[in-house]
Amino acid sequence: MCGIVGYVGVSSNPVEVVIEGLKQLEYRGYDSAGFAVLRNSKVELYKEVGRISNLEEKIKGIDFSDIEGIAIGHTRWATHGGITVPNTHPHISNNGKIVLVHNGVIENYADLKELLLRKGYTFYSQTDTEVIANLIEEHMKEGNSLEDAVILSVQELSGTFGVVLFYADEPDKIIAIRKGSPIVIGIGDNENIVASDINAIVKHTKNVVYLDDGEIAIVKVDGIKTISFSGKNIKKDVFVIDWEVEEMDKKGYPHYMLKEIFEQPTAIENCIRGRLLEDEGYVKLGGISKLEGIIHKVKKFTFIGCGTAYHAGMIGKYLMENIGWMPAEVDFASEFRYRNPIVSQRDVVVAISQSGETMDTLEALREAKRKGAITMGIINVVGSTIARETGMGIYIHAGVEIGVASTKAFTNMLVALVMLSVMVGRKKKLGIFEGREIVSSLKELPELVEYTLQKTNKVTQELAKKFSNYRNFIYLGRGYNYPVALEGALKLKEISYIHAEGYSAGEMKHGPIALIDENMPVVVIATKHSVYDKVVSNIQEVKARHGKVIAIVNENDTTVSKIADYTIEVPYVIEPLSPIINVIPLQLFAYYVASTKGLDVDKPRNLAKSVTVE
Ligand code: AGP
Ligand code: GLU
Repeated sequence: MCGIVGYVGVSSNPVEVVIEGLKQLEYRGYDSAGFAVLRNSKVELYKEVGRISNLEEKIKGIDFSDIEGIAIGHTRWATHGGITVPNTHPHISNNGKIVLVHNGVIENYADLKELLLRKGYTFYSQTDTEVIANLIEEHMKEGNSLEDAVILSVQELSGTFGVVLFYADEPDKIIAIRKGSPIVIGIGDNENIVASDINAIVKHTKNVVYLDDGEIAIVKVDGIKTISFSGKNIKKDVFVIDWEVEEMDKKGYPHYMLKEIFEQPTAIENCIRGRLLEDEGYVKLGGISKLEGIIHKVKKFTFIGCGTAYHAGMIGKYLMENIGWMPAEVDFASEFRYRNPIVSQRDVVVAISQSGETMDTLEALREAKRKGAITMGIINVVGSTIARETGMGIYIHAGVEIGVASTKAFTNMLVALVMLSVMVGRKKKLGIFEGREIVSSLKELPELVEYTLQKTNKVTQELAKKFSNYRNFIYLGRGYNYPVALEGALKLKEISYIHAEGYSAGEMKHGPIALIDENMPVVVIATKHSVYDKVVSNIQEVKARHGKVIAIVNENDTTVSKIADYTIEVPYVIEPLSPIINVIPLQLFAYYVASTKGLDVDKPRNLAKSVTVE
């Protein structure tokens, strides 16, 4: 949730790298920020509550030109102790030499603190983090080297922690520790950068090493050494990330979310590139070739994910059944991991995640692996923990997604799911002509998405102005577009704080219809597909109770436009791809409602981009 940046090197100004990195992590949500540097062998700490800009204001005019080539910084999302300057990281040991930042929670901090208090240590914050610094100091006092003291300390800590530290007397290194909270190391030229998220690194280098749980990295300017919590050397792979620095720029858009909505044509283009085999009505998915070889043995697919990724999984189930000719189920990762999912070695469990770091999804995946399932990922962030632990998968190549409300990652997840279903289906009963139809529609998709954006941008903006003061919304859809209704409602509530519920249109009469009156706007997805007539009846039911209907319809629809109060026209596309088109006006509508209300669209309250806690 919170962010970490650490720098060691001679190529850049450490303070600039750290502040810039923290800014790139701002979207993750935090309440205070700070950093530590080393000057004349003394640690200096700078901390402020609130935004990074407050911290910048505080250090204005301070000359950092003579500091040593090392710094660590942190954006805090308080768990232990209030939002105050003393609680803001970095925290320093009593001897003023070991300074560190921490993501996560030390569950046994109270016992450790008690122990250290008895040994005469003083604590200056209410955080769980401060014990780590003093614990390391204590082990060094016993005669251990810094590395050994770190190893002894991590063995005593329980909970989750991503920690980055340095020691004033050994200014040539920073040490990074991972258990539960992500840590990635960027390998640069005469500089290395440690962070909780590659966003803070991508400006400096694309070569990264991801730490796994239970690993410690000793990062120096000329190389890194990785050891386990028991001190054994570990060899790490270097991943090359495929993000461009320019992607981190808003490019003139007022918010990242709007920019990302408009990036969808390019993002889809990147997702399908080199993967469509038009003549064969087939796809080439290099990352799951192993699965392709054993697909005839597979009995069932299970999709797991959270939030928007879960909605993609719901659509994945429809796709897998209709195109893949394969039994499929879907579950919230947070439920899957605590129920007793019946999966066997002939089941494929697909973890869907933009960040690849969502704790619930990661733990659900681990549970599936324990039960012997075949696992794969549909992931955006290359080399992320889930991507690595699944062993195989489809990268969706949506590029950096910074807006907390996921948009382009969702549509790319759907594109990946369509391709996966074609792969599975063509090995089963899906014929070449049907395969070709889907593959050629996928090829045309970027253009159609562009057209949809242009066509719906203005009308959604106008409707947003009319509806931004309503307190409740209902979203309805059926079949493939039922999860789209859920996604439309999620987008609206996440960024506009308006209560919105999505339902299957057919379920409405079983309860939610009681909510309908003239004050209830109902957004209905009514494009011309298999359940069109049924949805038209559902719209009639809403109108009969004076609800206000905003309908997503295909161009030239005459039936719904007669009964709905407002219509948003989208182009026709084959049904399995319709969620990708239909969600676009819903993303735009949510965006414009929130921006009309003047809300912080990219950083909605209480939410974080990557949820690395349970
Ligand atoms: C999407 O708008 C949300 N902010 C959230 O539901 C998100 O989709 C969920 O937390 C899963 O994230 P992931 O895709 O990174 O795993
Ligand atoms: N538990 C620590 C604290 O409250 C770290 C919180 C975080 O992950 O930002 O300070």
